[in-house]
Amino acid sequence: MREPAPEHGVAIGPLLDQLFRDWIPRSFTSAGPGYLAYIPGGGLYPAALADFIANTTNRYTGVWQAAPALVQLEANALDWLREWMDFPPETRGLFTAGGSMATFSAIVCARERHLGAEIRRGVLYTSDQAHHSILKSAKLAGVMPDRVRAIESDDRFRLRVDRLSDAIAADRRAGLTPFAVVSSAGTTNTGAVDPLDAIANLCARDNIWHHIDGAYGAFFYLCNELRDTLRGLPRADSLTLDPHKGMFLPYGTGALLVRDGAALRAAHEATAAYLPAMPHPEDFYDPSQHGPELSRGFPGLRVWLSVKLYGAAAFREAVAEKRALTLEAARRVAGLPGMVMDVEPQLSLFAFHLTWPGASASAEDAATKALMDKITARGRVMVTGCTTHGRYLGRVCILNFRTHQQQIDALVEDMAAVITELREGRKAGGQD
Ligand SMILES: Cc1ncc(COP(=O)(O)O)c(C=O)c1O
Repeated sequence: MREPAPEHGVAIGPLLDQLFRDWIPRSFTSAGPGYLAYIPGGGLYPAALADFIANTTNRYTGVWQAAPALVQLEANALDWLREWMDFPPETRGLFTAGGSMATFSAIVCARERHLGAEIRRGVLYTSDQAHHSILKSAKLAGVMPDRVRAIESDDRFRLRVDRLSDAIAADRRAGLTPFAVVSSAGTTNTGAVDPLDAIANLCARDNIWHHIDGAYGAFFYLCNELRDTLRGLPRADSLTLDPHKGMFLPYGTGALLVRDGAALRAAHEATAAYLPAMPHPEDFYDPSQHGPELSRGFPGLRVWLSVKLYGAAAFREAVAEKRALTLEAARRVAGLPGMVMDVEPQLSLFAFHLTWPGASASAEDAATKALMDKITARGRVMVTGCTTHGRYLGRVCILNFRTHQQQIDALVEDMAAVITELREGRKAGGQD
């Protein structure tokens, strides 16, 4: 497909034909109803409309004075997220390109607050299940990998607070400065929610910044039945959210909330003589003073327009529906022959493997991998697995607004059929 830039423009029809006929279909349909792989994406229509409006009017939303009313819409949308997550009014936030950038800015805040110029002494803690964006964000924020501790997780893949406490004490004895813990409100591997409340207690006791990576799971806080699982979430110093996951928006919509809004501003503030002065910065929201970017798109309009058109209740109901579908899917999958449920759904993700009498761990891993691949090859649902704690686990994650009962039925039917096929294959090969 490599080609030089055309010297002269060409007609749009054939270009769009090729795009839609040849290129777009050659990709994961992460916005599709059958996408139960990785963490599903979204793509609500109002967000596309918001982008169209934002891109054609092309207003400058980096500084408040350039488009005050539009920036206020963005501030309102951030405030809705704040309210939904039970964060206090002094919270400030930022719309980002995704969860990774939100976590990056959060670590910069924590570093500024606790380390100042003494960056090399600082140590950041996360779990061995943490998303790789945390290590990457730490490095981008100047916290090198030798100052990041991947704390062991328990048999349900949740960060072990006893090990965290030991590691913090050991680093203090070594003259280092523990400054941040990044926990997960839903890991990508198995959907594990770390003990957020216990981590919040430990961080409060030891004066350490607690950031929660809620890129996958934070919006499940909108489900009353999951408040207990996510207990402690509103106590975090900062929280990563990904509206392009849990609010079903298209990619490019992440968000950060920082409890002490002044800390977010202090970490990112920069002024220039040519920019209009902000008379009362504490009264107005200036996105470029709360994040790394100056010129930027208008991500808040996607969130604002979608919530205005559908209402908050529709989002709560959709998230609750995904949770209910997951519980049903997990129950039915657990009943299939040879199935071991390794991780019951804490939110909307569960993990499992296949077994049979006399099976070795490596044979089970291979069979589970084959199960995932063969289900996907049937073309109705797409599923992926993960390798963790030394084993391959199959997994199902339900978070697309287009996923409904029909896809759960397809998943269970296809899984049952592939399990039968694999068992017959083993019998025929004399392995059973
Ligand atoms: C738990 C978790 N954290 C962080 C991220 C990174 O977010 P993003 O891809 O929006 O940068 C992801 C997914 O991609 C994730 O699942």
